[in-house]
Amino acid sequence: MNHLELKAVSKRFGGVVAVDNVSFSVPRRGFWGLMGANGAGKTTLFSLIAGTHAPSSGDVLLDGQSMVRQGPAASCRLGVARTFQIVRPFRDMTVHETACVAAMYGRHRRDFQAAREYAYKSISAAGLESLADRAAGELTLSNQKRLELARALATGGELLLLDEIMAGLTPTEVTDMLGVLRSIHVDWGVTIVCIEHVMRALMDLADQIVVLHHGVKIAEGKPHDIAHHDDVIRHYFGEA
Ligand SMILES: Nc1ncnc2c1ncn2[C@@H]1O[C@H](COP(=O)(O)OP(=O)(O)O)[C@@H](O)[C@H]1O
Ligand SMILES: [Mg+2]
Repeated sequence: MNHLELKAVSKRFGGVVAVDNVSFSVPRRGFWGLMGANGAGKTTLFSLIAGTHAPSSGDVLLDGQSMVRQGPAASCRLGVARTFQIVRPFRDMTVHETACVAAMYGRHRRDFQAAREYAYKSISAAGLESLADRAAGELTLSNQKRLELARALATGGELLLLDEIMAGLTPTEVTDMLGVLRSIHVDWGVTIVCIEHVMRALMDLADQIVVLHHGVKIAEGKPHDIAHHDDVIRHYFGEA
């Protein structure tokens, strides 16, 4: 059974069809990339999976169970954890405290001591252990993105939805983040869906890439095939 399955999912906002009849499935421990130009519907698709939005039609299944219209808290308890494209940390909380909140109120109700330990494990996995007591607001963008990742892990999430976690990072930071993601994927045994513009990132990591264009899935395949796909080249990389 697939960990995640989208069945003909659509989302309309007034006259805008942000997500248009999209279907795909991700097996447990799969690593899927999601690509598409700005406005293609990628973040909206995450909001449909994370329960922030209910689809206008279609269904989202987790381990074969429909989870639409249950809301984001229920989705978190079912093991869905997302990171946000625009990071908005609680600036005065430390890195460790931020992850603690996720560990206490995420998938499992942990007591304070257990949450502290799980949170520390999560921030270590994201490479932030040396910054554990630093205020979140003082972190560089790159480390704030890592904190998003740590927080998602700390919820106990088994399906991580990563929204442009590498956007705005320098090439070196991207390389470091790729190492972090690879380790987390293997060591934590999680399923990952990753929205990413940095093609290099997905080439190495993703089992499969889905491409959206104006809300429609125009391609799905192995990274190498996607990089050479005619429609993807035309709509996404530009004619040249
Ligand atoms: N809450 C909303 N209300 C109205 N329109 C929205 C909302 N969220 C997204 N949209 C529209 O849906 C489309 C897809 O947006 P989005 O999912 O953010 O794209 P992407 O993440 O691929 O850049 C855009 O046209 C955007 O303006
Ligand atoms: Mg987006």
